[in-house]
Amino acid sequence: MFEDSEVAAVIASHPPAVGGRRPLRWQDHVVPQNWQAFTDEDHAVWDLLFARQVELLGSRVVAPFLDGIGLLRLSHPGVPDVEGLNAILEPRTGWRTVAVRGLVPDDIFFAMLSQRIFPVGNFIRTREQLDYLEAPDCFHDMFGHIPMLAHKDYAEMTRHVGELGLAAIAANQGHKAARLYWHSVEFGLACEDGELKILGAGLASSFGEAHFSLESRGVERVPFSIGRAVETAYKHDAFQPRYLVSSSLEATIGEVRALTPEQLLAL
Ligand SMILES: [Fe+2]
Repeated sequence: MFEDSEVAAVIASHPPAVGGRRPLRWQDHVVPQNWQAFTDEDHAVWDLLFARQVELLGSRVVAPFLDGIGLLRLSHPGVPDVEGLNAILEPRTGWRTVAVRGLVPDDIFFAMLSQRIFPVGNFIRTREQLDYLEAPDCFHDMFGHIPMLAHKDYAEMTRHVGELGLAAIAANQGHKAARLYWHSVEFGLACEDGELKILGAGLASSFGEAHFSLESRGVERVPFSIGRAVETAYKHDAFQPRYLVSSSLEATIGEVRALTPEQLLAL
């Protein structure tokens, strides 16, 4: 497990590239979370976001997500520290979180996933930004993503998506892996015990889009398949016009884990 001092050592031994070129190794994007720098207001914003999102979601999210919230003790007050999360997560599924300054490039992101590393922003939105964010913050990353990474099979599926992403980017077809990731891990829906539920982290962590994705009559909801995910473009800056619905969480995990890079590239 990384300690902050180890992270600092990693960073020191891999200084940022000069001449405008971005760092190429995922380790170069890791920064100390610097948890002590979060203010009382930051922690209060986390608590507010957490309380209202848990109430909003209720049972509208797949059961393993709620299990993960409990396992990871995310209901404890304040912004979680990455070491505390890792102490629970790593023994369970081999995953650990690292702090980053914000969005990382796709190739770096997929490289991290392939190594069971999940990047979390080292900042949280302000009270004035509760419902609108230009870039994902630690609430999206920790509340939205980390609970499902405590689910062994889902965690392994996410690692596999990282490998698929690296292969796709190497073949100049990164959009195929990005769309697969987007329509499953970020914005997927799933059937569970005959009910439509939220699966994706982008929905689970969104106050506006969580209900919209499930209940709006103005959007398409179509069955998930890998082929459909790959052919469906997505929006970064607006609610999705189309959601892909898995027949079950287990079905999607099985389908994605069985996908080879060659199969993805042939789509
Ligand atoms: Fe995300």
